[in-house]
Amino acid sequence: MTIAKLPPSRWQDYKRLRLEAVENSPQSFLATAEETNNETQAEWKNKIENMFFAIDEKDNLVGMIGCYQEKLTKQKHIANIVSFYISPKFRHQGLGRELIKTAIDFAKTKKEIEKVQLGVITTQKPAIELYKSIGFVIIGEQKMALKVDDKFYDEYLMELYL
Ligand SMILES: CC(C)(COP(=O)(O)OP(=O)(O)OC[C@H]1O[C@@H](n2cnc3c(N)ncnc32)[C@H](O)[C@@H]1OP(=O)(O)O)[C@@H](O)C(=O)NCCC(=O)NCCS
Repeated sequence: MTIAKLPPSRWQDYKRLRLEAVENSPQSFLATAEETNNETQAEWKNKIENMFFAIDEKDNLVGMIGCYQEKLTKQKHIANIVSFYISPKFRHQGLGRELIKTAIDFAKTKKEIEKVQLGVITTQKPAIELYKSIGFVIIGEQKMALKVDDKFYDEYLMELYL
């Protein structure tokens, strides 16, 4: 298994994994499958620049995580973790931990970044345990953050100070 960034030309593989993630874990992603499908090629090519992927021996994408720095001057000390997902068959092997460590190490290479933040739905136990185990703390809770199939989900806001 390799952890790596991918060039914009691999945007269709990224889209495929993203669609799998949205279907399998709808509470972990803001967009629906339909909204994901409607995104343009230019949007995928742009977003892939912030992504790291777990890639198996046959060059298939089996996991991903996004890490991007805020652009405005007053917020450049903040990085965001987004789109974190491991395909079910590949879970419990340490891949998720490896991916998020890669994202945090990347944030640490940027001198300006002093804080990493993320949002996680309060029912996503595996993700919450993983975040806590590497030092993220819960700093707040947003009620009714998502509505999926008529059910509301609350979200923890978590932060890691570098
Ligand atoms: C969260 C997720 C990425 C973890 O991926 P993974 O490859 O299975 O994680 P790892 O094998 O690296 O496990 C790392 C840690 O996560 C936690 N963890 C993983 N699975 C867990 C489970 N079923 N219950 C509780 N904690 C769990 C543990 O702290 C574990 O550390 P340990 O093995 O030392 O106990 C994966 O479960 C996933 O894709 N979930 C659905 C999408 C999602 O919730 N994304 C996050 C959105 S914010």
